[in-house]
Amino acid sequence: MRFLTKKIEEFTSDTIICFFWEDYKPKSNLFDYLNKLSNNQLLNQIETYKIFKGEFMETFKYSINENIKVLLAGLGKKDKLTRRKFSQVIANAARIAKNMTKNNSIGIELIENLNECINITKNFNKEDSAKMSLCSARIGLYEFDKYLSEKKPKIETIELLDDNFTKEIENAAEIGAYTSFAMKFTKDLVNEQAQIATPEYIANIAAQIAKEHKLEAKIYDKNQIKELNMNAFLAVSQGSVHEPKFIHLAYKPKCTPRKKIALVGKGITFDAGGMNIKPATSMLTMKDDMTGAASVLGIIQAIAKLESDIELHVVAALCENMTSGSAYKQGDILTAMNGKTIEVDNTDAEGRITLADALTYCDKLNVDEVIDIATLTGAVIVSLGNNITGVMGNNQKQIDNFIEISKKSGENTWQMPILEELKDNLKSNIADMKNTGGRQAGTSTAAWFLSNFTKSKSWLHLDIAGTAYLDKSNKETLQGPTGVMIRTLINYLLS
Ligand code: BES
Ligand code: MN
Ligand code: ZN
Repeated sequence: MRFLTKKIEEFTSDTIICFFWEDYKPKSNLFDYLNKLSNNQLLNQIETYKIFKGEFMETFKYSINENIKVLLAGLGKKDKLTRRKFSQVIANAARIAKNMTKNNSIGIELIENLNECINITKNFNKEDSAKMSLCSARIGLYEFDKYLSEKKPKIETIELLDDNFTKEIENAAEIGAYTSFAMKFTKDLVNEQAQIATPEYIANIAAQIAKEHKLEAKIYDKNQIKELNMNAFLAVSQGSVHEPKFIHLAYKPKCTPRKKIALVGKGITFDAGGMNIKPATSMLTMKDDMTGAASVLGIIQAIAKLESDIELHVVAALCENMTSGSAYKQGDILTAMNGKTIEVDNTDAEGRITLADALTYCDKLNVDEVIDIATLTGAVIVSLGNNITGVMGNNQKQIDNFIEISKKSGENTWQMPILEELKDNLKSNIADMKNTGGRQAGTSTAAWFLSNFTKSKSWLHLDIAGTAYLDKSNKETLQGPTGVMIRTLINYLLS
């Protein structure tokens, strides 16, 4: 897919998305231009017949002639709009426009400064607009047709339309475009079936990415993982016929890095639950349990393409959690890479065990911050549902900053507590800790467990178990993987 910035009168797309406010008279330059092309029929239709008011998510299709179709996309009332809602409007409009275009090309209005919308996180300018329009349109257009015998039509070009493109707006559009590539990459990898997307398959993709983007790469096989003393991670992997892989890619800027960050992604390529086997309905979508790993691999490509001035390490412990004669068992006592011992209380709480060693590995990287992203607990779905990601960590400043950037990126996050008292939930009599406690505070307890395996003073943990994969479409994303937190993380890294 190509992304272009064009002057209003120069568009070549046959389908143009133009935004429209409810209860707000002055229309945009693009609207005026399209209206003129229609000999005032566009405005006339709306005003005479009152068939379209511009309510939030409302759309109106109008054909100017054989070659130009307009899709008006309602933004609702100015004081009600948020960045998230703006993203939903764009994604939805792009999906509709996809069925209207005949030349596989759609144009999108670059919306004006939205600072007067009081519920939009402040300083929404044309840069934000360019970034979000490209990214959210691609979210709306995403479909996975690899295994369909009849392929879906593809949009080849998205044109952003405005009369005054500055260098800054072009740069922002570029960030939006690479962010959308990262999201598409991640969603494709998550959609891939687990019998194909094995640890080895993902490690090979990581190696290819490293080659293509000239990244430093370390890919450890089973024996090397043993040499690193990652015995907790190894235990989780031992029930599978697929051998584990541990991957570490690093992007280093040409200049002295402005900051150094490590991203860790949970990389369970299939979570059957192990000997504590999951019921069939819970296992159904467990190929998505490597979403964290897929996300960090997407993100590092965007950061490299944008030639960011930060140093970025991405790390993932890849394995399958299976039930078999060689699988790890309840009651096993594992010695993690940092020497702490873990009594296995439940083999289905495997993510935290693999992350323990991945986090310890990051202690040696000499980075300023460590962020992990993981489909970690079913409990976060109970607390926050499918549209809010749980954020935890050990540095309140970092947490506040991250949450602020998530709002600006159009994503929902909510902080969950990590309190010292949670320790009691995981008390073991024969090891330093158990890997699970009771039913209480599952998300926070898992985070407390993880906190034992990092020395970082700025460690942030994202629990995306509820948000990574949708069983039912929402306003923005269709059923399936969402690419959640990729936008926020890229904006956070660039900030
Ligand atoms: N991968 C799951 C968490 C999950 C659940 C992700 C639902 C996406 C949707 C994780 O490994 C898991 O099984 N967690 C257990 C922990 C429990 C045994 C303490 C859970 O949440 O049920
Ligand atoms: Mn599990
Ligand atoms: Zn899992």
